[in-house]
Amino acid sequence: MKKTQILIVDFGCQYTLVIRRTLSELGYQSYVISPEKVSEYLEEHSPKAVILSGSNASVYDENAPTIPRDLLEGNYFVLGICYGMQLISYLLDTLSVIRGDEKQKGYGGVQVKQYTRSVLFEGLTHEFRVWASHGDVVARVPAGFTITALSEQGTSQVIEGMQSETNKIFGVQFHPEVIQTEDNNHILKNFVELAGCHIDWKPDQTIEFIQSEALEAIGEGKALLGVSGGVDSMTLARILSPKLKNRLFACIIDHGGMRKHEVADVCEVAKIAGIDLRVIDASDYFLETIGDAVDPEEKRKRFQKAYAKTFEKIIVEEKITHMIQGTLATDLIESAHAGKSSHIKTHHNVGLAFSIPEIMPFRNLFKYEVRAIAHTLGLDKAIAERKPFPGPGEYLRILGIPVTKKLLEVVSWADDAITEILKTENCYDDISQLVIALNGVETVGIKGSARSLSYAIVVRPVKSSDYMTTKAFYIPESVMELVTNEVTKHELINRVWWDYTPKPPATTEFQ
Ligand code: XMP
Repeated sequence: MKKTQILIVDFGCQYTLVIRRTLSELGYQSYVISPEKVSEYLEEHSPKAVILSGSNASVYDENAPTIPRDLLEGNYFVLGICYGMQLISYLLDTLSVIRGDEKQKGYGGVQVKQYTRSVLFEGLTHEFRVWASHGDVVARVPAGFTITALSEQGTSQVIEGMQSETNKIFGVQFHPEVIQTEDNNHILKNFVELAGCHIDWKPDQTIEFIQSEALEAIGEGKALLGVSGGVDSMTLARILSPKLKNRLFACIIDHGGMRKHEVADVCEVAKIAGIDLRVIDASDYFLETIGDAVDPEEKRKRFQKAYAKTFEKIIVEEKITHMIQGTLATDLIESAHAGKSSHIKTHHNVGLAFSIPEIMPFRNLFKYEVRAIAHTLGLDKAIAERKPFPGPGEYLRILGIPVTKKLLEVVSWADDAITEILKTENCYDDISQLVIALNGVETVGIKGSARSLSYAIVVRPVKSSDYMTTKAFYIPESVMELVTNEVTKHELINRVWWDYTPKPPATTEFQ
């Protein structure tokens, strides 16, 4: 089994994933875990480097997240970031951390000065700018530690860095993982290099690892892989199909909420990539199961049920022994199946209890990593750069009223029409994801010379690389006008609404 060299303990900090992402940009894979699972994890693995994330918590909170003491007994290289540093200090000296004063909260840009030489700051200037976001501070370092960096805040000095005399345990009060910290990623790089980690994130190595892991898990069995048409499942099918051959049953479920031409396009790409892909038409069954659901979570749950039942049927018919899912780290995190993050949405393919073992070869990867693998495999650009589309498809894009076949047709018509305009106007490639939805609130308009009472199409173009956060992509006015003119030609649409809200606070999808 492949060993993960770097363990990130997530105490519930918005930047934990940024640590993971920065490390993979530096060439290292890492594994994010919640604090309660650390002991169990350490029994089976022996990470070279452990990073303790920040948190909104204080070490003085009741039930404050913590770590097993073994981590600080000299067997591991440990880097505590913000709360992580306070926790190290507190566990070794309970009087060393002081509660933050509301007025003195360290938040924003801070100028840090190196105090004693530290291998962590190798390659940095004596003074450098960092990003801080903390309440409590370490007021004195524990015995056996030295101060490595300080900052001036008001009239007092804040300990910004510390390290053990053994050169194995480090703490920084600021966030080295965010781009606002001007260290060019030296701090994380110095730490993992010191811990003896070697570069292990390379697309071809990951492909080989996924193939051997899957072969080992499946043995002589037969695996089922649902291909949605997105980059994740198609890349996975392309990785596994040459190894598993006819022991891989790859299929696309037509659930009736796909985009126009999607099923045909996916089959065409699969054929070129040498993947034997079957189409399972389950559109009536899905529509019936979603029924009158309007509430987003209810709809997602019903979709998930239909999805699971459709697969269970195939499992029996095709004598399948293993289920393979192209689920990414982001999906697991936002469905609260990884680390400490809270539940945002029920993802259609996460947390299903299949009757057979389930394998998730991409569970530690992010979208941009899968795209890099797709390019390495020479997959068509239309797939490698395909914009994400949610598994439950257009079912999530009919808002406030029950889904009908007619409404699904309207959304996919609008999606296709708007996509074509944006492509012709050279805007499409710059958008990371285009969400087109139908808002079920009927509003008054004028069609011909008569009063109309009909729906609105909502257009949400976003930019993002990991979809954990997004920014708006602003469409030029002239193109917005073209879109509005085209979409309102439909008899059921009399308005177009534009949604330029970032994530957070809004999620990418409306539901
Ligand atoms: P949100 O709306 O949570 O979406 O910001 C983040 C990304 O995930 C996609 N998404 C899904 N993908 N199954 C999927 O395969 C789902 O249930 C699902 N829900 C959201 C969304 O389109 C965006 O790219």
